Amino acid sequence: MVHLDTDKLPRHVAIIMDGNGRWAKARLRHRVFGHEEGANSVRDVVQCCLELGIPYLTLYAFSKENWKRPASEIRALWELLKRFIRSELPDLIAREIRIVRMGDPEGIPGDVLDELQSAIALTSQFEKLTVSLAINYGGRQEIVRAATLFAMDVQNGRIQGTDLTPDLFSRYLFTSHLPEVDLLIRTGGERRVSNFLLWQMAYTEFYFTRILWPDFRKSHFLEALRDYQQRERRFGRTGEQLRGKSKSESLLDDRPVEMTESSGITH
Ligand code: FPP
Repeated sequence: MVHLDTDKLPRHVAIIMDGNGRWAKARLRHRVFGHEEGANSVRDVVQCCLELGIPYLTLYAFSKENWKRPASEIRALWELLKRFIRSELPDLIAREIRIVRMGDPEGIPGDVLDELQSAIALTSQFEKLTVSLAINYGGRQEIVRAATLFAMDVQNGRIQGTDLTPDLFSRYLFTSHLPEVDLLIRTGGERRVSNFLLWQMAYTEFYFTRILWPDFRKSHFLEALRDYQQRERRFGRTGEQLRGKSKSESLLDDRPVEMTESSGITH
């Protein structure tokens, strides 16, 4: 039984759902079978977010790099996404789940995009849980797109180039309407970010597990949350600052920092 502190839950969890192909191969099945089973893990995690009151979940469903896969697998992935969204839609509406999309619409097959757009429109009023699907998404492409949109605003005289700040830049990203990503989970044993939410992960906590995505169910999600709750998120501050300390200690610690040539940083 995993004990969780409901006051310390992440608001926004992002997941790289890796390991579907290996899961299927271990069962002597086609890779697509792994993706199909992976859809059940999606259902489990969505349900878990609802139950716990985690309001934002972002799923890496199809990356820009996934186009390098065999055409038959790509077709099957699009078919699965379309079928998943269509079949889940009544349930998404009943449970007040909002669907949003991030990524490049160009290249997504028309019928898949139509299905997505209608799910997005029909769930746009809901606030209980926002499930953001990263589809035809790449982190570097997203940053370049944001830079281009910003340059266009400068060119149109809507904004000054010198007004740019990290906060302002964030408004040009797909995630402008989402809070910071608190926790990234990657299943399947690899420990990399694979061009996912590069800008957004500045202060994200990472959780890597060897569990393959189709095996990743509620208990694994709860374990990832428990692990997250052990972390001290300092955002550049010191641990002492976060935990609070006696007045005399804080006076000492708050003296300005000076650089000396001989010893580096000293008080
Ligand atoms: C990576 O595993 C997984 C994907 C590229 C696709 C993820 C898609 C799903 C889980 C389908 C359902 C999703 C939704 C949103 C309904 P991999 O194929 O790279 O696995 P491997 O590393 O074992 O080969």
